[in-house]
Amino acid sequence: MTETTPPTSGTPYGTLPPASPLPQRRPVSLPRLQQMREAGEKITMLTAYDATFAAVADAAGVECILVGDSLGMVCQGLPSTVGVSLDTMVYHTESVARGLHRVQATAWLIADLPFGSYHGSPEQAMRSASALMHAGAHMVKLEGGGWTTETVRFLVERGIPVCAHLGLTPQTVHALGGYRVQGKSDQSAQTLRRQAHALQDAGASMLVLEMVPAQLSADLTGELPHCHTIGIGAGNGTAGQVLVLHDMLGMNLGKMARFVHNFMEDAGSVRGAMEAYVQAVKQGRFPDNTLHAW
Ligand code: KIV
Repeated sequence: MTETTPPTSGTPYGTLPPASPLPQRRPVSLPRLQQMREAGEKITMLTAYDATFAAVADAAGVECILVGDSLGMVCQGLPSTVGVSLDTMVYHTESVARGLHRVQATAWLIADLPFGSYHGSPEQAMRSASALMHAGAHMVKLEGGGWTTETVRFLVERGIPVCAHLGLTPQTVHALGGYRVQGKSDQSAQTLRRQAHALQDAGASMLVLEMVPAQLSADLTGELPHCHTIGIGAGNGTAGQVLVLHDMLGMNLGKMARFVHNFMEDAGSVRGAMEAYVQAVKQGRFPDNTLHAW
């Protein structure tokens, strides 16, 4: 039997994945994420910063693509995310959105509001979020709790889906004194819990929990049925997981963080590594609380 090769979208410099590499999947939407949550299916997320990686991640079955401001470090060579501008986020969000549309456009596209682009007022946040939505994002992400609650409500009431981010919030690395686990003491766990509940009440439909003890993030996941917790270094009790693309491909010259696994090690290709990540998360094999969590 002859196998038919799906057409590829090629350029002289590279070839995007086949046009229909997977059985047709439904585009990811907020109702779809809620259904997955209720069915107990883990949500997968990876960062991507350009068209090709985004298209490959989509083809590999990753549900959510995050144009993270980690691009400051992995693409721009900055020491932290603090120096990333809104214009840069718009540029990369446009690239990722184009990449998704050239292939399957199944994934839910989230873009980070960078440092300084939402801190002034909810109106400033609305202008910045609009720029990211015009660039092709479906949802924006912002860091912090407490003071951000009003901003989240303001954006959600105006039709912008919001992902919050608590725990280690890299934009405040200087205030936090480094990249450390957050929510370890009873007091900081209580603050984090209070902030997470307020963010759900304000309408945030997703919450990244970064470097938070596994028990705390598992408890929060049970307490927040309409705000999907996505963990990174937060154990396996969250509704989903996220990793920085370059980390999970082993493209990190420094010391790899404890919560990362190099999925490229046993994969023959980038797409293979992404598929292995998706399977490992869905089957509850990644992260392993004995290896990757606190
Ligand atoms: O910017 C980023 O990549 C992120 C992830 C680490 C969640 O915020």
